Amino acid sequence: MKVISLIGARPQIIKEAVVQEQLQKHGVQEVLVHSGQHYDYDMSDVFFRVLKMKQPDYNLEVGSGTHAEITGRTMIAFEQVVMKEKPDVILVYGDTDTTVAGALVGAKLKIPVAHVEAGLRHEPRNTPEEINRRVTDRVSDLLFAPSRLAVENLAREGITGGVYFVGDVMYDLFLKMKPHFDYSVIERLSLNENQYLVVTIHRDFNTDDPDKLRHILENLNRLSSQYRVVFPMHPRTKKRIQQFGFEDALEGVDVIQPLDYLKLMGLVMHSAFVITDSGRLQKEAYSSWKRVLVTMPDTGWRELVDEGWNVLTAGEKLGAIPENPYEDISVNPSAVNAAYLRKR
Ligand code: UD1
Repeated sequence: MKVISLIGARPQIIKEAVVQEQLQKHGVQEVLVHSGQHYDYDMSDVFFRVLKMKQPDYNLEVGSGTHAEITGRTMIAFEQVVMKEKPDVILVYGDTDTTVAGALVGAKLKIPVAHVEAGLRHEPRNTPEEINRRVTDRVSDLLFAPSRLAVENLAREGITGGVYFVGDVMYDLFLKMKPHFDYSVIERLSLNENQYLVVTIHRDFNTDDPDKLRHILENLNRLSSQYRVVFPMHPRTKKRIQQFGFEDALEGVDVIQPLDYLKLMGLVMHSAFVITDSGRLQKEAYSSWKRVLVTMPDTGWRELVDEGWNVLTAGEKLGAIPENPYEDISVNPSAVNAAYLRKR
């Protein structure tokens, strides 16, 4: 069997690391294609190095652009590769513009499409990621769901054929890489265990509206009087902060470059808690028994919120961070922990 895997953005590269190893183990031929949606060293190359992955066979070099530009350029270039390689299956991951582009190419060429991390859903429906998730699931033939809730979400939309509850590849990666987590950032920034927060913010609904972004930054700055606040900053967020002239709002915050997987996980492991709008990090923090203030109106990992482990900060006041998040997030975490484990 010959598989083409299409990756392009940071979270997909990480998921591919796990799948790649299994494909090799089972003697499946894999052609690896990188769309080039993420191209900075910190957003892409570094993951190949630290996760010891094989290099892509093709790089489509689509780069940045509007959603239509990224999706369109990926489709045009990827179609050429698929027609040349004639795979049995196309594998796509997650919810990015690269994902939906790969799924549409496969569907139109009548090549079975397999979606890793199918069935995650969250409001609002008009975010680029949610649109990508829904379209990709609709045209996929094999849907690999990471949770039971994801299977139920698909069933609610009438998608039952080809659905497999396979568990979460991010957890597989966590277990595999835990012995190799890199704790050097803690030392480099002279942080104390449980006295610092890890923050990542990059979703368009948090970064692209100046009022919301300013509000989030001011809240982080306020928190920095209680904790050290470490913010590995995504390029989109950095661009918007510069564009809106908000650099002053982060005076008390430790802004650093995006971190590779091993360094980010090392940092999370000893943090007090995490503030993020990243779907991936919400789940990884849970694997490390760290709770998360989720700066989103809704999340694909709804079960972690329903069980009281993670806290959604948004709703009406999108991007709002409570006056004292530590009260919300860390009141008796062991009780929440125990309750959650009992139900699992
Ligand atoms: C994308 C995914 C999102 C995922 C995230 C992980 C979509 C719609 N969204 O969001 O689901 O959680 O990746 O990081 O595909 N940029 C750089 N260097 C890079 C990459 C991006 O400077 O290496 C800049 C570009 O100018 C770009 C902006 O960041 O315009 C946003 O990048 P983009 O790929 O559009 O989406 P992300 O916000 O990264």
